[in-house]
Amino acid sequence: MNLYKYVSESINNKLGFIANLEVPRNRAFGDFSTNAAMVMAKSAGKNPRELAAEILPQLQELDFVADASIAGPGFINIKLRNDFLWRAASQQKNAKTTAPKKIDLDYGGYNVGKALHIGHLRTSIVGDTFNRIAKYLGHTTKSYNHIGDWGRPMGLIIAWILEYGMPTNAHELNKIYPASTERAKNDDAWMARAKEITAELQSGNPEYKQIYDDFMKISLAQMDDVLHRLNLLPFDATMGERGVAPYVADTQKILEEHNLLTESDGAMIVNVKTDNDNAPMPPLMFRTSSGTQTYAAADLSAIYYRTKTDHPDIIGYFTDSRQNLHFQQVFRVAKMAEITNAELFHTGFGALTGSDGKPFKTRDGGVAELLDILDLSTDAVRSRVSDAGKKLDDETISAIALAAVKFNDLLHDVRADYVFDPNQITSFEGRTGPYILYTAVRLNSVLKRAGDIKNTTATELTDDERNLLIATLDFERTVQSAFDNRATDMIANYAYDLCQLANTFYHNCPILRDDVDDATRARRLQIVQITRDTLASAIDLMGLTIPNEM
Ligand code: ARG
Repeated sequence: MNLYKYVSESINNKLGFIANLEVPRNRAFGDFSTNAAMVMAKSAGKNPRELAAEILPQLQELDFVADASIAGPGFINIKLRNDFLWRAASQQKNAKTTAPKKIDLDYGGYNVGKALHIGHLRTSIVGDTFNRIAKYLGHTTKSYNHIGDWGRPMGLIIAWILEYGMPTNAHELNKIYPASTERAKNDDAWMARAKEITAELQSGNPEYKQIYDDFMKISLAQMDDVLHRLNLLPFDATMGERGVAPYVADTQKILEEHNLLTESDGAMIVNVKTDNDNAPMPPLMFRTSSGTQTYAAADLSAIYYRTKTDHPDIIGYFTDSRQNLHFQQVFRVAKMAEITNAELFHTGFGALTGSDGKPFKTRDGGVAELLDILDLSTDAVRSRVSDAGKKLDDETISAIALAAVKFNDLLHDVRADYVFDPNQITSFEGRTGPYILYTAVRLNSVLKRAGDIKNTTATELTDDERNLLIATLDFERTVQSAFDNRATDMIANYAYDLCQLANTFYHNCPILRDDVDDATRARRLQIVQITRDTLASAIDLMGLTIPNEM
């Protein structure tokens, strides 16, 4: 149940107008507070405290109100009834949306022939969690891995393979693009060759296509491996620049019909600048002067294809913020050309930095690959565990390391940069993934030791018990807000707050001790179970797994 929604709607219905409901930081005076009297005072021509006194009896009639009192200039504090709280908390269901949407999500977007780099970390983690949130709420999603598999890098790689032979594994393959790019810097003929190969590949040269297909296999296997290690949901479609190539002609036609295409030095561009633009807004490049498909043409054609096939209500993109301008351009053209009616959104991420605030580098100074991040975290977990004199199997250590990386990534506002510190994120205390998992393991172990959990009823609740139950009842609202605001950090922060309350409860409220009476034990066990279930749902949305022990 979305407690907040239930309470605020009930109050609004009762009073006949919309008032704000707040959750006070300090719950000593009430579980919720409303400014209803202050909002109404003016039109009623009364002083807010006076009006509050008149409203109180009406609020007291509501089935969930134990007590209502006036505070400050006219706020009304509401304390919930324990029996109501108990019923609501023990009968929680995943509340599905009443307005399900079709949503195409574009994240991952890995590049063929290149290692997944650190920039692909957030798009994978945040995109995957957003997908899980949307599904949880009952929307229908289709996830696209819009891979970079058709541009100039392909020509550079094929040129190299023609000269030096086919790589046999991802490690060898990933070295080719940087080497070939380096060579192209001082060797104009080499660059010209790469461009020519790219154009010929795109127009169907069979020899190049064969080479392409061969190294593509290596790349796809490498992507699969990363998906697996990151515990991401499988993509519904791996369809990128090449996959949409057959739709470029149709898209171009639409642009022409709308008189949007202009020629510029042999290239085809679309002017997107408007009089209201203060920041620079260069034209979108639809085709290069050598006749090859551009990055923007692929994205426009993808919108065309997705609209035609999926009829999405929303198309959402998750990439790093260096692509903000690109998506602004693409969205403008998509709307100018009426390619889609869907709502388009792009979430641009900040970067992972070292403690110096500069983009994170590996110890040898190189650009960090995505798997380096996991390896560094795994090493940090392993040494912590052995320092603590514990023994955990490799699978558990990997699960903890993954939780450290993903939780930390989700925790930060997606737009902001954040410092990546393997030591800090793997701590078992504080706002970390391991702390979240540790709390879940602890709750699981109480339940395991207790055996069967019976359903019970409760009318008396201690503050720690109430606070924890109310927090579980805030889960549905949190998921909804995370979706509405495209703010996956809300889930991570919610999980942390819930764990804090769960641990306070655990310390203050003995459960299995001999001096605890049966009714109290039964009640507390059920609270543990409710909390564990809610926490497990949050953990699942973050794509983490709870180990058996820690
Ligand atoms: N391949 C691109 C990169 O690695 C990301 C693709 C993002 N998605 C898109 N539809 N453009 O930078």
